[in-house]
Amino acid sequence: MKRDVIRSQNFVPEAAELILRLARAALSERGQFRIALSGGNTPRPVYTVFARIAHDLPWDQVQFTFADERCVPPDDPQSNYRMARESLFVPGAVPGKSVTRMRGEVDPQIAAQEYEDALGLLATQRGEMIYRHDLILLGVGDDGHTASLFPATAALQETAGKVVANFVPKLDTWRITFTYPLINQARHVCFLANANKNPSLLEQILNGDQQFPAARVAPVDGDLTWILAQG
Ligand code: 6PG
Repeated sequence: MKRDVIRSQNFVPEAAELILRLARAALSERGQFRIALSGGNTPRPVYTVFARIAHDLPWDQVQFTFADERCVPPDDPQSNYRMARESLFVPGAVPGKSVTRMRGEVDPQIAAQEYEDALGLLATQRGEMIYRHDLILLGVGDDGHTASLFPATAALQETAGKVVANFVPKLDTWRITFTYPLINQARHVCFLANANKNPSLLEQILNGDQQFPAARVAPVDGDLTWILAQG
């Protein structure tokens, strides 16, 4: 695993350009670009710029998935799908068939299982044992969570499932989330984070402090990049 830590004064364009570079490489090498989007607030401006600079990508060869989702309808202000739709899919004219949405509006267990099945079908169609993302974008919460892998929650221990429903006591809510087995199969994982928000937490995570879920992301046969908004 190659690891890069990029401390950027031009976070948004630099992150969008990295995504575009990885997209072009995947399309050139394999004729497809499989990208999982992170939720939260940090990625929103990156998606907006990406939609603008990537307008010539062959969207029919790009597959957008989600690293996690809140258990809300797709038009809810809390929905990660809604954020991506507003910042990327609509402005980028991304067709619906290029997006696999986690159905936050249904029972979490059902939504997680159907998502895992959907990824499994896409993998099988290409003769693969497991759906392997070209790029998974992730964020980091103030408690060191990533996707919806929160400290002291059951999903952290998942070793077989690829997508699970995870109850988060601190939020008193269910989430749908990728697990480490799926995340660590990615060809490239990229954290998008604001280094000014919690510099000491980020340093602990970068130093491998395993108490923080984000520190346990370690692609088995892939690269790991941290792009940190600095200044
Ligand atoms: C979510 C995200 C979550 C997010 C972090 C950071 O659904 O909220 O997947 O893991 O990336 O909480 O969020 P911010 O970018 O808003 O700080």
